Amino acid sequence: MGSVIIELLRPATKLECMADPQEVLAARVRMALAAAFGAEYADADPVIRPSAFADYQANVALSLAKRLRRPPREVAAEIAGHLDVADVCEKAEVSGPGFINFTLRTDWIAGQAAGMLEDRRLGVPVADPAQKIVVDYSSPNVSKEMHVGHLRTTVVGDAIVRILEYQGHDVIRANHLGDWGTQFGLLIEHLMDVGEDTARRQLSAGEINTFYQAARVKFDNDPAFADRSRHRVVLLQTGDKETLRLWRVLVDQSKEYYNTIYQRLGITLTDDDLAPESFYNAMLASVCDELQREGIAVISNGALCAFPPGFTGRDGEPLPMILRKSDGGYGYDTTDLAAIRYRIRDLKANRLIYVVGAEQSLHFRMLFAVAREAGWLTDDVRAEHAVIGLVSSPEGGRIRTRTGESVKLITLVGEAVERAGRVIADRYDDPVLRQQIAEAVGIGALKYGDLSVARDSGYVFDFDRMLALTGNTGPYLQYATARIRSIFRRAGLDPDRAAGRMRLNEDAERALALTALGFAPAVSGAADRAEPHLLAAFLFELASAFTTFYELCPVLNAPSPEVRDSRLALCAVTLRTLTTGLRLLGIPVPDRM
Ligand code: ARG
Repeated sequence: MGSVIIELLRPATKLECMADPQEVLAARVRMALAAAFGAEYADADPVIRPSAFADYQANVALSLAKRLRRPPREVAAEIAGHLDVADVCEKAEVSGPGFINFTLRTDWIAGQAAGMLEDRRLGVPVADPAQKIVVDYSSPNVSKEMHVGHLRTTVVGDAIVRILEYQGHDVIRANHLGDWGTQFGLLIEHLMDVGEDTARRQLSAGEINTFYQAARVKFDNDPAFADRSRHRVVLLQTGDKETLRLWRVLVDQSKEYYNTIYQRLGITLTDDDLAPESFYNAMLASVCDELQREGIAVISNGALCAFPPGFTGRDGEPLPMILRKSDGGYGYDTTDLAAIRYRIRDLKANRLIYVVGAEQSLHFRMLFAVAREAGWLTDDVRAEHAVIGLVSSPEGGRIRTRTGESVKLITLVGEAVERAGRVIADRYDDPVLRQQIAEAVGIGALKYGDLSVARDSGYVFDFDRMLALTGNTGPYLQYATARIRSIFRRAGLDPDRAAGRMRLNEDAERALALTALGFAPAVSGAADRAEPHLLAAFLFELASAFTTFYELCPVLNAPSPEVRDSRLALCAVTLRTLTTGLRLLGIPVPDRM
């Protein structure tokens, strides 16, 4: 019986991600479970974890013991007795209350790491089937300054997109630009007051706040202007030609500013990815009709509202999603309902990821609830709010200039680059090279600062920490790649050509190779949870393992040609893994530093 089951399970083991020791061990433990306790245990979670006493441990016996009503150590021994791991492990033994500890064979690690060098994908399997995934990110508002919060949703969203695309998914970037709303009444009137040329100049330079504030002051103090603005909103909503043209001017100039920022930061968004709020205008009436027809939306105090079950305010009253205000106007909620219907029904997405600030959590929970009620969002579609935590200044609150205004994004980018120039300035005489490196290091530091922290936790923005050459920073990772490149430069070798047998005699060599094998699981973890920081944490671990190796194991002056070649291969695997990983995070990698 046992062997029949094992035969049935064999084909599945071909899907083992070649270079992922945890997955290999998990598959072997599952086979042992099936052999020991029956086929129904073949997909139990073997709970493989890194171990302090070996390389990995399986904890499954502890939970299984309860189910089987047997002592955990006995269960562990039984699993161990059915394990077939001799090709992978040097030792697999029961320890403690019922752990199974695995010590991998060093030659197996060496073989897997050498295999990574031969695999262009570094062991990352191609997604099969590929999913269609909409990632909603960046999404600044035309009428407001793009702030550090938008920087973070932009940077994190772009990393998520890159990671999913690397896995082979069909990713649709959706920049849900805030380009619609009643605030455009006053913006257009103000534009007419100051003249198109002045407005254009201000907006494409990113002076949106100045522009908006000037309009706001007039609106609050000049009743005639306020009237004109309100009338302008009506003209905009009814499609008046000249009003639409002026609205376009506002939107286009802001887009130009965003594109400058995207390009400088190496964000993959282009105009083709714009799915702004106005794009959904034509669908809003039909969304309202459908929800009303289905009895999901009802008129309440003159407005059309949906009250998804389970959402109540502080007073216990049901919370509404407002679909149509009593004056007939539509808002943010309606647009998002139209967007989710469109993404599922028309784009046929299997997964929706909204990379948006934590303050909108309730909005998205309600949105998903209504979409579920409407039958748009089914169990075949995964919708998730990838929560972005707040970035605050060291003083707390928003990042401000000395005069108290919030800092413009492009100013922040400039400052990062300038500071990076100072950090590395003394190393290079050539001004062009120096500027290139400063740009890569400054922007890498800024972006990595957002990516190295769990995306849903807030952090304090701090240039000094971001730009430090040690610790979990962009420059530290970039520096590790530059060091490896310099080894190859000195050897007169091309790291892309390195290949060959690895001999892992030293602990630091073994540890580095084993760490590198964690690339594929790091990518899949980051993709599944839409959490790029998991990949960042892996890259930091790899760079740290490299630093230790580099301190203990001379490469070019290795004790023998075989050891030298092996160490060069190890360096090459590390370099390729680091540069690929950094590319997936959107961090530029300078050749030297
Ligand atoms: N423009 C919004 C803001 O700045 C973010 C939009 C997020 N995406 C969405 N589908 N609601 O707050």
